[in-house]
Amino acid sequence: MTTVKWSPAKRLRGTVAPPADKSISHRAAILGAMAAEPVRVRNYLHAEDTTSTLNAMRALGALVTVDADVVTIRGTGLRNTTELDAPIDVGNAGTLMRLLPGWLAGQEGRAYTLDGDASIRTRPVDRIAEPLTRMGATIDAVDDRLPPFTVHGAHLRSIAYDLPVASAQVKSCVLLAGLMADGATTVVEPAPSRDHTERMLASAGVTVHRNGRHVTVTSVDELVLDDITVPGDPSSAAFLIAAGVLVGGSRIAVVGSGTNWTRTGFHRILERMGGIVVGELEEAPGDGVVGTEPAGDLDIAYGPLTGTTVEADEVPLAIDELPLVALLGCFAEGETIVRGAHELRLKESDRIATVVDGLNGLGGNLEATDDGFIVRGTGGLKGGTIASHGDHRLAMLGAIAGLASDEGVTVVGMEAADVSYPTFAEDLGTLLKG
Ligand code: S3P
Repeated sequence: MTTVKWSPAKRLRGTVAPPADKSISHRAAILGAMAAEPVRVRNYLHAEDTTSTLNAMRALGALVTVDADVVTIRGTGLRNTTELDAPIDVGNAGTLMRLLPGWLAGQEGRAYTLDGDASIRTRPVDRIAEPLTRMGATIDAVDDRLPPFTVHGAHLRSIAYDLPVASAQVKSCVLLAGLMADGATTVVEPAPSRDHTERMLASAGVTVHRNGRHVTVTSVDELVLDDITVPGDPSSAAFLIAAGVLVGGSRIAVVGSGTNWTRTGFHRILERMGGIVVGELEEAPGDGVVGTEPAGDLDIAYGPLTGTTVEADEVPLAIDELPLVALLGCFAEGETIVRGAHELRLKESDRIATVVDGLNGLGGNLEATDDGFIVRGTGGLKGGTIASHGDHRLAMLGAIAGLASDEGVTVVGMEAADVSYPTFAEDLGTLLKG
């Protein structure tokens, strides 16, 4: 385990491009492997999670080559995955674990077991097992809800599925299975969630339609994907943005970050808190066929913040950035409240418990609730030691807290950042030297 001390920073200056988007990289690898013709992916994220996905695609029969900045995937086609004797190792990647079964469910007569690290074994899969079972597949899981689990492929029927919680992973899983089902498959979302799967499927020639909270895909014989260029990850960029806002005297530029509206809830929350961020973000998309992935540049400056309230609707649009909202809340004037975010308890760690305990240990004043937290802003953080609990976002949260703190923060388990952002320390180093 790596222990790193992040000392208070004088100011941050300079320009950084965040790493490639993790969500979009997972989808590019999976859809590339499902496609009939080779697909070239530019700016694929080379991090632990997305390497697990490339390895899973190799195991299933795709030929994957990695050159300097292009990953080429020669897929198996929709229904021809290789039979396997060993489980597919998803590592720490929840997105791989929840999306891939959508494809595997349609492999008639073949069964696949998925397993991963200790954290993955605590993360529920009943949420995908339920719709896939209704479509005709069989899923065997530990206690009916935990990995390792086996997907028995079948001839699938289409369904209309009401998602019990807004989850892009579950939505995507059902949509992927829908590609191989008879007829049209509809997912109804309780609130909008990230729509990368819909956008990529539409660009692969699939009929995808959004009508309010309903998303429908029609089955296909094959996927024909154009080459894909992955934009920067707004969730990784959010750590840099938070650092720029919190460290006195900072002025930074974050370039080439995704600006897809379903990923920029954090920017809207930060704006309400008075954060100084300038840049063009995508507007909320309307009904109909979804477009390609937008990207852009942001300018960030240090400034004072005030508390805000984040309600359930906004949660899926900023789900991975809510730990940072808690950190911003510590530095803000007044209370910052997050509600309707029970899902945070099911992430790489129980992020309500680990964020609240972690920031309280650094001098914050936070209270956990069943579905979120209340932060009483004190204008700053003293500092201390925080454990990552093997959670990449908690490790990076500790680092940013350290830069903005009075006495610095020691992060125990900093290596967890490699799951999504292997160049995190290097990028902060650039801004510290600027
Ligand atoms: C993701 C969806 C979100 C998010 C995760 C990535 C995706 O999970 O927290 O980091 O790529 O679809 P849920 O769908 O469980 O909310």
